[in-house]
Amino acid sequence: MAKHLLSLRDFDKAELTAYIRRADELKKETKAGVRHQQLAGKVIAMIFEKPSTRTRVSFEGAMYGLGGQVIYLSGRDTQLARNEPLKDMARVMSRYVDGLVIRTFGQEIVDELAGYATVPVINALTDRHHPCQILSDIMTVIEHRGEIEKLKIAWVGDGNNMANSWLEAAGRIGFDLTLACPEGYDPDPEILAYAKENSSHSITLVRDPADAVKNADVVNVDVWASMGQESEQAERTKIFQPYQLNKALLGKAEKNPIVLHCLPAHRGEEITEEVLEGPQCVAFDQSENKLHIHKAILEKHI
Ligand code: CP
Ligand code: NVA
Repeated sequence: MAKHLLSLRDFDKAELTAYIRRADELKKETKAGVRHQQLAGKVIAMIFEKPSTRTRVSFEGAMYGLGGQVIYLSGRDTQLARNEPLKDMARVMSRYVDGLVIRTFGQEIVDELAGYATVPVINALTDRHHPCQILSDIMTVIEHRGEIEKLKIAWVGDGNNMANSWLEAAGRIGFDLTLACPEGYDPDPEILAYAKENSSHSITLVRDPADAVKNADVVNVDVWASMGQESEQAERTKIFQPYQLNKALLGKAEKNPIVLHCLPAHRGEEITEEVLEGPQCVAFDQSENKLHIHKAILEKHI
């Protein structure tokens, strides 16, 4: 087991599924009123250079829920904002806390932090990956539809950090994954090649969203402009219009798929109000499962 959690490909199938199994146990225990204390006396720091509702609160809630404590630092709170070298920050923080959870822009920032930190580093989203999110999404898929290896997962929209992490999960766990992305917005080519090479199942990139949705058991959507891409919003809104998950597109699905959205959602853009609030959408179960997955991750790494 890798000390850090930087991207999903650093873990084998048994390790990835163990997080989900443990999260399921912790969820049941928490609902039964068990008060966990396995991280009593431990402290993590969370360094967030991008906004967050779910990831921040669920990591903090998870740490407190296991008896530990959290120090939250926004990007502007540290000397990083005044250009203190990351390698100094990594070594200093490692002397204060038992683990670092970071949300930032470039993956290289997280990799450098992990290279110098002597405590575990957990990736809470970069431009390239959102690994912890995909673990809670897979947990949600399994809860609603059973063994993921037997399911067809569709991704509709931008080939972004979420799409990349879905690809890495498919490369490790093995399930059919079809991505429908407009030309110019494909997932990272190196990650796509990795998934194709390593997956025991089919990995397909198509242009027509109907082709991805048609046979899907699960349909995934995410925002058209991710954090840091706000200046591209207008252009992307035009390009991605045919990729909106609305009643007409979802109506092309033959297997009554569940709909996943990691949230925050932009109603009327990547998904309509009707679909987001409709019976097939499990977005709020995904949000809840972030709490349980983060407990499983913290328990394992911290
Ligand atoms: N899904 C997710 O990561 O949400 P936040 O940006 O609110 O953390
Ligand atoms: N792709 C989105 C995910 C938000 C949780 C972003 O990076 O902004």
